[in-house]
This record gives sequence, structure tokens and C-alpha cells, in this order.
Amino acid sequence: MEIRTVSAEETEAVGRRVGAALRRGDLLLLEGELGAGKTTLTQGVAQGAQTAGYVHSPTFVLAHRYDGRLPLFHLDLYRTDGGLEVHDLGVEEMLEAGAVVVEWADRAPDIFPPERLELRLRFGAAPEERRIEALARGERAFALARCLAGTE
Ligand SMILES: Nc1ncnc2c1ncn2[C@@H]1O[C@H](COP(=O)(O)OP(=O)(O)O)[C@@H](O)[C@H]1O
Ligand SMILES: [Mg+2]
Repeated sequence: MEIRTVSAEETEAVGRRVGAALRRGDLLLLEGELGAGKTTLTQGVAQGAQTAGYVHSPTFVLAHRYDGRLPLFHLDLYRTDGGLEVHDLGVEEMLEAGAVVVEWADRAPDIFPPERLELRLRFGAAPEERRIEALARGERAFALARCLAGTE
């Protein structure tokens, strides 16, 4: 399934729909080049999960926690090579406590459980166009993908 957005606000709205549906244990892996819109989408997810704090890229720490309707953990693995520090992050514990959104998940593919919603963001033809491809792994991810598309 693929969604096309033509503005940052639209990408944020896509994130908001997922965020509103998030439950404890949900895992969202975001892939895409710098500037593709991963953080923008995450800002929407945080709004949908009713968190208060402003979401930015967790540049120097690998993980941020936002407390809203449920705890939301935002990971950005851009600056890691997938070494020891990512294994010590405690992703399983985060999933027990709340939902987890990850930018640059492909930097450390083996630290995540298999059931997750993968979102791949690409640039479109126009400067503000993006393509968001959703790949649902597992029943729960499938349900989230339907929320993301706005068909649920
Ligand atoms: N359709 C769109 N979706 C998301 N971001 C967009 C879109 N059009 C323009 N932008 C801009 O592109 C940039 C995306 O940056 P960001 O979300 O930080 O990307 P990433 O986290 O993938 O590096 C922002 O400046 C945003 O305003
Ligand atoms: Mg980012």
C-alpha cells in the first residue's frame, strides 16, 4: 500500500492517524533518506498519541520518551553503526511500556521483533511530494496500516 502526500502537513496528518490508533507494544519502523519526512511523520504520531512535548530529532541521544495517552518512544539510529549501544537500548522493555517509532531502523535491523509496521518514505516528483509505502508485518501492523490509510 502506498500513500502520496503533497505537503509536510499531510505527512503529519498521516502520522496523526497512526498515533491515534497506537497501542502498547506497537512498533513503527521508518525508512527513507534525510529529508524524506520521517521526523515530520513522527511529529504527527506524537500528536495522535496526545503527547505534549515537541518532537525533534533525538540527535545526541538515541531515544526520547514522550508521555501522552501512552508512553511513546522515539528512536533515531542515524548516528549509530548498530553496535553495542543499540543492543542496550532495551527495545523490548519499551514495547512493554508503550509504542515505539524508529527512524533509520535499517541501521540495526536485528534489534527489533518481527511484528511491526514498516513505512518507507521516498521523494516524489514535486518538491513537496512524498510517497509513503506501508509494509505490515503481522495482524496488528495490518490494522495500523488501515488506520494510516484512513480506511478504518
Ligand atoms: N510531503 C512532505 N512530507 C514530509 N515533509 C515534507 C513534505 N514536503 C516538504 N517537506 C519538508 O521536508 C522536510 C522533511 O524533514 P524531516 O521530517 O526532518 O525528514 P527526515 O526525518 O526523514 O530526515 C521538512 O523540512 C518538511 O517540511
Ligand atoms: Mg529525522
